[in-house]
Amino acid sequence: MTPPSKQDPVALVTGANQGIGLETARRLATAGCTVYVAARNRERGTVAAAEIGARLVPLDVTSDVSVAAAAAQVEADVGYLDILVNNAGLSGPQDDVHDLTGAGIEQVLATNVVGYVRATQLRHRR
Ligand SMILES: NC(=O)c1ccc[n+]([C@@H]2O[C@H](COP(=O)([O-])OP(=O)(O)OC[C@H]3O[C@@H](n4cnc5c(N)ncnc54)[C@H](OP(=O)(O)O)[C@@H]3O)[C@@H](O)[C@H]2O)c1
Repeated sequence: MTPPSKQDPVALVTGANQGIGLETARRLATAGCTVYVAARNRERGTVAAAEIGARLVPLDVTSDVSVAAAAAQVEADVGYLDILVNNAGLSGPQDDVHDLTGAGIEQVLATNVVGYVRATQLRHRR
């Protein structure tokens, strides 16, 4: 793996195996950043990272263990992040309010609220 040059900004995009996250990661790579595709789904993450010339880091933003492992990987690899794109998220249930469940809403909050806070722990400045 080629080490980033001292000038290259290092960026990590959560939920980057598809959709807006993948497109954001692609544009950051095109702009000259060293990019980490952070993906819960390792298979799709591997394909996405290869497609745009990025590095894969497995990440589930609902897991402290997973965030700590991702932070350790980045720390060992390049030692810092310049840019964190907190993109991973769920649109959540679109059901009638009477069909919503506590478990369903807890999953949305764990991902879209607590997950953003947790993933922000990945941010290490040079
Ligand atoms: N598209 C819109 O119109 C729109 C509007 C408002 C807000 N947003 C927000 O913008 C972001 C991207 O939207 P999108 O349309 O590109 O969504 P998407 O295609 O559904 O992609 C969401 C990404 O988030 C990942 N993700 C979900 N839960 C995760 C977790 N616990 N840990 C790590 N990754 C997780 C998914 O990974 P997996 O493949 O592993 O599931 C996927 O890569 C989301 O946060 C979404 O809520 C989108």
